Amino acid sequence: MVRDGREILSSVVSSQVDIHRKFGGVVPELACRCHIQNILPVIDVALAEAGVELTQIDTIAVTNRPGLIGALLVGLTAAKTLCAVTGIPLVALDHVACHLYSTHMTHPGIAMPCVGLVVSGGHTHLYLCRDHFRRELLGGTQDDAAGEAYDKVACILELGYPGGKPIDDLARQGNPKAIHFKRAFLNREELDFSFSGIKTGVLYHVRGQNVGSSRRTPKRPIRTPKPKPTTSTADVAASFQAAVVDILVGKTLQAVRHSKAGSVVVAGGVAANSRLREVMCERCSAEGVEAFFPELRLCTDNAAMVAGLGYHYALCGKIASLSVDAAARIS
Ligand code: KG4
Ligand code: ZN
Repeated sequence: MVRDGREILSSVVSSQVDIHRKFGGVVPELACRCHIQNILPVIDVALAEAGVELTQIDTIAVTNRPGLIGALLVGLTAAKTLCAVTGIPLVALDHVACHLYSTHMTHPGIAMPCVGLVVSGGHTHLYLCRDHFRRELLGGTQDDAAGEAYDKVACILELGYPGGKPIDDLARQGNPKAIHFKRAFLNREELDFSFSGIKTGVLYHVRGQNVGSSRRTPKRPIRTPKPKPTTSTADVAASFQAAVVDILVGKTLQAVRHSKAGSVVVAGGVAANSRLREVMCERCSAEGVEAFFPELRLCTDNAAMVAGLGYHYALCGKIASLSVDAAARIS
């Protein structure tokens, strides 16, 4: 429940982390089933915490793309049904645009156009954001998203799921220069990313092979007995994080130079990363550009950012038809 695009009256997040943890990642069928069970209770709590009746609501905003199609359909069907029975207008939004908008909820008045980096479990993409409605894709990951790499590396290091926060915490005690993991694509002109190589580098290191170097072939096949690595898990976490942060910041600065934008917004679950926040702000400021992050509770998935952007869509009359569909991908 959000008033005027910014004031959060209530923000209810029903996390499914405990359900997916034992599988080491999101299981789509379980996610959809849990959405069905949770959607109505969550709406009730959001209304109650805000002290608002359904009839007092001006607009219902929903994200209908991109993502897990079953989960999107549950949210979209709930929103459409509420709109159909109450007559409240519907706004249907792109999830990535909502992440980008979350930064503007925390920092109103960011100059646009700006460079937007969306970095989460499903996305690592750079945009030139012209305003809240228009953006151009500048580049994106060719394989894993950065958050996905965090989750997979945390699994290798047995730090649990989701892996971003435990790696972030452990990295503080390690040496970021202990192992050099290759910064893929960093010296290329294209604004694309690749994180699967770092993940493999960590795997080889932990198995005692090839210590994260850029050599393509490991010295030993992957299943041979492993010598004990000489570096600690904290060093691996710190070195992995240093590589990811270097890539994310380096590519974002390339996008800034390319677009000549004066500000950078970073959003999505990985925007909660403490080292990314530090390094991005430092290096942007050294180039005369300001970097902005959402407050922590708005980094990971939440409905407040959807309601916030929905306000601007409704103001401009961008109302969706009740026949609007969900889309797993953006075409
Ligand atoms: O935006 P989000 O909640 O869901 C997606 O749309 O994907 O992002 C979740 C991702 C997970 O991969 C999680 O490990 C990562 O964000 N994450 C972090 C941190 N907190 C969450 N990654 C790095 N550092 C963190 N502190
Ligand atoms: Zn998200």
